[in-house]
Amino acid sequence: MSKSTLLGVCLIGTGRAGMIHARNFALGRMAGARLTAIVDPVEQARCTARQELQLERVYADYREALLDPDVEAVVVATPSEYHCGIVVAAARAGKHILCEKPMAMNALECDRMLAAVEQAGVKLQIGFMRRFDTGFVAARQRIVSGEIGQVVLVKSLTYGPSIPKPWMYDIRQSNGPLSEVNSHDIDTLRWFTGSEVEEVYAIAGNYRSPDARQSHPDFYDNVVLSARMKNGMQGSICGAQGVRYGYDARCEILGEKGLITVGSLAAAAVTTHTAAGSTTPIVPSWTDLFLDAYRAEDEDFVRCIRENHPPRAGGIDGKAAVQVVSAGNRSIRQRRPVRLDEEGVTAT
Ligand SMILES: NC(=O)c1ccc[n+]([C@@H]2O[C@H](COP(=O)([O-])OP(=O)(O)OC[C@H]3O[C@@H](n4cnc5c(N)ncnc54)[C@H](O)[C@@H]3O)[C@@H](O)[C@H]2O)c1
Repeated sequence: MSKSTLLGVCLIGTGRAGMIHARNFALGRMAGARLTAIVDPVEQARCTARQELQLERVYADYREALLDPDVEAVVVATPSEYHCGIVVAAARAGKHILCEKPMAMNALECDRMLAAVEQAGVKLQIGFMRRFDTGFVAARQRIVSGEIGQVVLVKSLTYGPSIPKPWMYDIRQSNGPLSEVNSHDIDTLRWFTGSEVEEVYAIAGNYRSPDARQSHPDFYDNVVLSARMKNGMQGSICGAQGVRYGYDARCEILGEKGLITVGSLAAAAVTTHTAAGSTTPIVPSWTDLFLDAYRAEDEDFVRCIRENHPPRAGGIDGKAAVQVVSAGNRSIRQRRPVRLDEEGVTAT
């Protein structure tokens, strides 16, 4: 690709996350890149996206898009179970890839994706957009500058408003909220501690999804995971789906000499948030909270390709998060602490 031309980007999957990327890449909105095509097997989704984005090239099958020479990079925002197959095919077709989190369903799939991008010599960036959020970036800088001394504990929570979709009820297929909701928190833990996870213990339960209780007794919509990091630091993750009141993403970093917080800390000592309303203003959705982070993430994807930098969050980071999800789900099932180096966690 010459530096004077615009990088041709194709969006695969025109749902909630996909359309945020599509709007960022749409013609004239981002230096150095333009959206050239979109893919979605669902006709209604394709039509709506085509109309909004005013695009001619609209495909039902991603394999057709991969044959298009004007497509130089792809954004993969399909349901997570398809990430591996699409990323491997895109790499083989020589396309650079921005893949939404979670990278894949298990470590074996991650290894296949890593091998394919390595062999093709293309970029693979994982959609951990919190690494581009100004609050999270500032917290990381403060950690590194030593403001709170040695980090002792990173606590990260994400509570999402959406009711789980029925396909999520089968934990073995969906990997549950640890994967869909908390992949970001797992990445934050690794990023802020500068260490890999050594061992986790997780408990979980179904508190808000009565429909799933009979048919899927394993399903959980609330989870608490404790982690021991390899460097001795502690990690704590809370996750919830279907909280309804809004989108809640907060993080605390406790050090030997102080505390850093990311996310809102309301002035009032006691607040209440329900579907009916909140006693203080709140963020309704992740699409509001992280809109700027998505844009910075997409801009950096283009910069990485044009200037040949490694992505801020790559396949190794994606795989590490997937392994913590596997260990966490095993811990929930077996009601015991699970080490990351246990057989089956690295490649199930
Ligand atoms: N970074 C984030 O914070 C964030 C937020 C939401 C979702 N996500 C991730 O993005 C991905 C998509 O989630 P979503 O909520 O946007 O889902 P969604 O259901 O809103 O959209 C998915 C779209 O992909 C399409 N699709 C299905 N199979 C396809 C295929 N083979 N080829 C092309 N398109 C296909 C569907 O028709 C649908 O339009 C998931 O991996 C999810 O975990 C990330």
